[in-house]
Amino acid sequence: MTKRVLLIIAGGIAAYKSLDVIRRLREREIGVRCILTNAGSQFVTPLSVASLSGDKVFTELFSLTDEAEMGHIKLSRDADLVVVAPATADLLGKMANGLADDLATTALLATDKPVLIAPAMNPEMWAHPATKRNVEQLMRDGIHVVGPNEGEMACGEIGLGRMAEPDEIVQAICRHLQSSLGPLAGKRAIVTSGPTIEAIDPVRFLSNHSSGKQGHAVAEALHKAGVDVTLVSGPVREPAPNVDKVVEISSAVEMLQACEQALPVDIVVCVAAVADWRPADQQAQKLKKQAGEEPPSIRFVENPDILKTLAGLDSARPQLVIGFAAETENIEQNAERKLQTKGCDWVVANNVSAEQNTFGGVHNEVMLFRRGNRVEAWPKLTKQAVADQLVRRIAEHFDQRRDTDTAP
Ligand SMILES: Cc1cc2nc3c(=O)[nH]c(=O)nc-3n(C[C@H](O)[C@H](O)[C@H](O)COP(=O)(O)O)c2cc1C
Repeated sequence: MTKRVLLIIAGGIAAYKSLDVIRRLREREIGVRCILTNAGSQFVTPLSVASLSGDKVFTELFSLTDEAEMGHIKLSRDADLVVVAPATADLLGKMANGLADDLATTALLATDKPVLIAPAMNPEMWAHPATKRNVEQLMRDGIHVVGPNEGEMACGEIGLGRMAEPDEIVQAICRHLQSSLGPLAGKRAIVTSGPTIEAIDPVRFLSNHSSGKQGHAVAEALHKAGVDVTLVSGPVREPAPNVDKVVEISSAVEMLQACEQALPVDIVVCVAAVADWRPADQQAQKLKKQAGEEPPSIRFVENPDILKTLAGLDSARPQLVIGFAAETENIEQNAERKLQTKGCDWVVANNVSAEQNTFGGVHNEVMLFRRGNRVEAWPKLTKQAVADQLVRRIAEHFDQRRDTDTAP
């Protein structure tokens, strides 16, 4: 089936390069429909865009003819991918804040499809804290970004802000279109990642050393395989991965709530290192050290068990529930026990003892335990490779299910 892209051309000097993007996409037999912002039409004409795309160009939100032919909501949903190139500082700001005051911004807010942006602007504009905030917000919202590159700008300045070259943009578009055809296309997943932090008082907390590297890698690998991924992440330094949605939380209670809100899904991968306990009483004011007094004792209560809760759901139980088990000893016994007691389908057990340098490190050595005593020990791999291998196993699992379901 022909893939289709909705290309939004905003008002930047790099708009001329988008004509080349249209040409290259058409050469690959990818359908292109375009929206030109008012400012965009100061840089390229609707006639050039229409001629290259072989389709009508949409420019106005309140156009009776356009609305009659193709409502703006349909326009935003018809394509497999929405691309903004060039993405101006102005448009990034509007997108990050959910504004919808013209056809381009309304379509971007109304779309249910992945969005890829190719920012292009003067280096000072790109480096401005407001632009940085907007881009970070957009990445958290699951928007994909290609570029910008470093180089000479049309204004003569040199720096970061040049729009990615047409070939790079087309490659990024093809990657995204392929992922919508990936082995797990159409599936939805929740991945938890990072640590949770449990407040003692407004300034102190208990947490652990989880960096989020492994969870983020699993989320991105699933996304590449075509899965619609919601990543629920505790506080980490790791940059947001390329996924559909990132929900940032602090505590185990918040993590469970965020997971429940993201249901229903087909797959859950609980990679996060969730605190087992939290202080029973979170103090409203900072605990003060009093001269001559004993240090305070902290009483703990148990946190919700996220893996067990999701694996034990009655109606909306995901088809495949996977838990990571961070162990410092008796890895096999503990993983087997986790498989039984949590009710999950698979456990990925990793050794997080200090000498392994797993927390925060680049590598991981894991064993995969599946119901039915199927155990695989994988060699020491990068966390990225562990994620890719796990996603291959997930894809095989769904392939086998499909074969069984369709067997005569
Ligand atoms: C000659 C010229 C070049 C411009 N180039 C850029 C640019 O490369 N990137 C950018 O963010 N804004 C650029 N602008 C400013 C935008 O056109 C302006 O912010 C406009 O409101 C963007 O509207 P839009 O986001 O709806 O397309 C340029 C303006 C002019 C006059």
